[in-house]
Amino acid sequence: MSLIFKTPAEVRSFTQELHGKRLALVPTMGALHDGHLALMREGAKHADVVAATIFVNPTQFGPNEDLSKYPRDLDGDVAKCKSAGVLFVYAPDADTVYPKGFETYVNVENVAKRLEGEKRPGHFRGVATVVTKLLALFRPHVALFGEKDYQQLQVIKALARDLELGVEIVGIPTVREADGLAMSSRNAYLKGDERQRALALSKGLHAAQTANEVDAEKLKALIRAELQAADVREDYVEIVDADTLEPLSEVAGRSARALVAGFVGTTRLIDNVAL
Ligand code: PAF
Repeated sequence: MSLIFKTPAEVRSFTQELHGKRLALVPTMGALHDGHLALMREGAKHADVVAATIFVNPTQFGPNEDLSKYPRDLDGDVAKCKSAGVLFVYAPDADTVYPKGFETYVNVENVAKRLEGEKRPGHFRGVATVVTKLLALFRPHVALFGEKDYQQLQVIKALARDLELGVEIVGIPTVREADGLAMSSRNAYLKGDERQRALALSKGLHAAQTANEVDAEKLKALIRAELQAADVREDYVEIVDADTLEPLSEVAGRSARALVAGFVGTTRLIDNVAL
């Protein structure tokens, strides 16, 4: 059985009873797919108890983004958590996380500036704030996040390090559909031929990854060619240092990452690979 908690007091009284057992936390916004379940199963390898959170965090959505239509299915999600070995789920209301008078936010600087940070102003402030609150509440030994949101993972590593939260942040490789599409709760928005066209992101990244090419502009051109062929509107295509996310002109001799964001119809998708 997975227990469901709605308030910080319930979480605290439960975690205080763990008596030194190792705790793994998997924060999510629900609409769970196999990528989330992989995080939960991996959590069980790092800890004695796995907890998950389900909270569609309003502060990480821009005014014209999909907060109101973001898919929600708490009962289905709790059943999935249970199947993946989660002992308890924290699913607070927005007023519980952000009560009247709330005025403290967490800002991560450099690693949050570009890419998603530039295209979605305020997004990482919302992510960093809610993740800091969850880590402070649960005090887990380890917290797990998907590499699908690669920049988010670097932002969370930075805040855990800088605020000395004493938690190990573990990134888990992106889980993909059989044809390569990165699993995402937003894939549910794809209609008609958009599901097929969305493959342009993973195809482009695969082309860059296997190209035996070091020049960043040429690598970006390979990705853009796939986007254009599928009529996917580019939001950004970047080749960056894997740790700092600074743009690179060449990928030789360092750890690099290719990141892409694009609109398939009205649905914005992101994906990335190691180079
Ligand atoms: O990746 C997500 O689902 C969210 O951004 C997170 C980390 C749960 C914060 O709301």
